[in-house]
Parts: sequence; C-alpha cells; structure tokens
Amino acid sequence: MRSVPELVAMKARGEKIAMLTAYDAPSARIAQAAGVDLLLVGDSLGMVVLGYPTTLSVTLEEMLHHTRAVRRGAPDVFTVMDLPFGWAHRPWSEVLAASVRAIQEGGAHAVKLEGGEEIAETVARLTAAGIPVMGHLGLRPQQVYRLGGYRMQGREEREAEELLRAARALEDAGAFALVLELVPEALARRISQALRIPTIGIGAGRAVDGQVLVWHDLLGIGERRPRFARAYLDLEREIRAAVAAYVADVRSGAFPDREHVPLPEDG
Ligand code: KIV
Ligand code: NA
Repeated sequence: MRSVPELVAMKARGEKIAMLTAYDAPSARIAQAAGVDLLLVGDSLGMVVLGYPTTLSVTLEEMLHHTRAVRRGAPDVFTVMDLPFGWAHRPWSEVLAASVRAIQEGGAHAVKLEGGEEIAETVARLTAAGIPVMGHLGLRPQQVYRLGGYRMQGREEREAEELLRAARALEDAGAFALVLELVPEALARRISQALRIPTIGIGAGRAVDGQVLVWHDLLGIGERRPRFARAYLDLEREIRAAVAAYVADVRSGAFPDREHVPLPEDG
C-alpha cells in the first residue's frame, strides 16, 4: 500500500501516480489487482452510481456506505474518501468529526475536500489530528449551482493567480496531494512546479504528477463522456448487447440449456 511520504517521494522521483475512483467492492477488487496507486471514493458516486443529477445530493452516510464496500474489495490500496457537499465549510471540529467517521467507519486512509484558502485552517487542523487531506481545486463540481455548469477554470490570469495562491495555501496547511480538475495545461504545470506535494489531474493535461479517472468513464459506461477522459472500453455497448442476448435467450428457451440444468451434486 502507498503511504503519504511515498506519494510525495514519487513526485520527487518523477514517477506518475495512477488514481481511479471506486464505489463498490468488485470494482475496487479489480482496480487493486490491476495495480492502481490510489483509490478515490468520489462524491461523483451521486452522478455515476446513484443517479442524482449533481454531486450535491450525496450524504455523508452514503459516502461511508460505499467507502466500506470499496475497502472490503481493495484491502491493500490507500483509499481517499470525498467529504460531500457542504462539509468542508463547516466549523473545523465538525469537519474533524466527519473525517474521523471516514477513517473509523468507512475505513478510508484520507479525505478529500473541495476548497481553497477558506479551508486552509481546517486542513491544518485535520492534518494535525493525523488525517491526511487531499485538496481539490479548479473545477469544483460542488460549486455547480454557482458556476452554472462544468466549465474550465483558471483561464484568466487573475483567476490563475488565485488558484496558484490557493494551491500554495493548501500545501502550507499540510495537504498531502491536490486534485486539479479542468484547468489549462499551462496553469496545471505552473501549480505542479510550484508545489512539493503531488498534483493529480483530471482534465488538466500532461504536466501534473498523476491522473485520476472516473471508473465509468475509463470503461465507457454512461451517456455523457467528458472529452478529457479516455474510455479504454465501450462497456456500455457490450453490457447492453449481453443483456439483450440474455433476454432473447430466455424468451426463445435457448437459456437455460442442458449444461445449465442443476444436478444433484450442485447441492
Ligand atoms: O468525485 C470524484 O470522482 C472526484 C474526482 C473526479 C477527482 O472528485
Ligand atoms: Na468529488
């Protein structure tokens, strides 16, 4: 299992970090067997698994429920749990209580919070308590009502400076890594070069210290696919074809056939 110091050392050595989201035990088991460095139980859970229109509906209880499943499937992978909408901005003692639940009840090793300088004090308190914190800057899906959509952030110089300042504040507060979502490649490079802690990009181009992808985007499951995500399979089509074949076989009587008839030795 990767550790916080090891992840920072990977950046220093120029070794890329491969992170993937997971929401249940079987996918986590497969990801562990395939050798991912880090798993993220993201609050994208709400959109890709629970069918909500945004991440804003996801509750702490739902996050804990799925984090437990992921940990059962991948006992040997360092796992980060997203704190859902609103939590990062509560009084630090409440954020600490939620993060302790992530670790004690969810089995997570770290938490991820969306936010910049306004949560730096909270990040410092959690870190002091022994809870590793991953930051999340750039596009913050928990801000979608304010932003009015999922658009690239940090395009203008003033905004870029603000993001760079926020990234430094999070590192100074003790964050061990930082997700950069949907920012220009040049800005992601600037931030990555300015920090000692690794940056993990999603739609942030190539000049970051690692990548994170959503499980369903990697496999090609879903109606919308972000342009920056590479689908390594077209699994949605394959699953639909498999289910359609099953339905047709039941209707025609082709399934079950002789080899699927239960035998006495099956118990
Ligand atoms: O919720 C999530 O899946 C995330 C990643 C996209 C970084 O926050
Ligand atoms: Na998230």
